[in-house]
Amino acid sequence: MSSRNRIYKGVDLNKGAKLEEPVTIYANADIRNRVKIGRYTYINNGTTIFYNTKIGRFCSIGKKCEIGTVDHPIDWLSTSSMQYNIKEHFDYKSDCSNFKELHYNQIEGCTIGNDVWIGSLVVVKSGVTIGDGAIIGANSIVVKDVPPYAIVGGVPAKLIRYRFDKATIKKLLELKWWERSLDELSGVTFNNIHKAIEELRGDKIKKRDRLKPIKKILKRFKS
Ligand SMILES: CC(C)(COP(=O)(O)OP(=O)(O)OC[C@H]1O[C@@H](n2cnc3c(N)ncnc32)[C@H](O)[C@@H]1OP(=O)(O)O)[C@@H](O)C(=O)NCCC(=O)NCCS
Repeated sequence: MSSRNRIYKGVDLNKGAKLEEPVTIYANADIRNRVKIGRYTYINNGTTIFYNTKIGRFCSIGKKCEIGTVDHPIDWLSTSSMQYNIKEHFDYKSDCSNFKELHYNQIEGCTIGNDVWIGSLVVVKSGVTIGDGAIIGANSIVVKDVPPYAIVGGVPAKLIRYRFDKATIKKLLELKWWERSLDELSGVTFNNIHKAIEELRGDKIKKRDRLKPIKKILKRFKS
């Protein structure tokens, strides 16, 4: 079966990256080794997702972002990666064939929850965790963890407000709606948060699920 992922022109997709179908990666994005991306997430043009980053489902990642950037050593002789990763960056052997590099323990990647919206031109530092449902404003630099359903922005990114009140956020985190199939989500009143939660919690969908096997039998019976 062919892949349902859409990978546009000029994308550098490392073979070690795992995409849960369907995922869309727009032009010129760079998806590094050991990255995991959940279904119905898209990565917009020119964005880099650094090694080891985990991104949940239903996320929208804007253009020209750097997600999970690594730091260079600050208190060594130099900040240059010549000291620990010369092979990746330079043709150096004619200067010193036996150059001795040191090991540098880089923290790589970050963790992005489900239903996270990251605006354009955002940088997220490695080691940071962004909670489910959070929003990162355009042009922000995220250096600290972001709580679920927070809206943050700026350099460095600070809390602007939360998307919903505490009780609503609690319900959403319990619901984990992103674990359901698209078929199960179909018909939910997405644009009315309280109604949507009610529907997802009870009932409408569960009832429909209970009816599924019966509907299947009826269909077979009819045909
Ligand atoms: C973060 C965002 C969602 C907030 O939207 P909003 O709630 O309508 O925000 P408001 O315009 O009411 O602004 C609320 C406050 O947040 C500040 N703010 C808004 N966006 C900000 C940003 N990107 N960085 C820093 N501060 C920001 C405003 O200055 C304002 O501050 P104040 O209360 O001190 O005056 C929106 O501004 C944003 O950045 N969207 C991303 C757009 C984008 O990149 N789209 C790409 C398509 S994927």
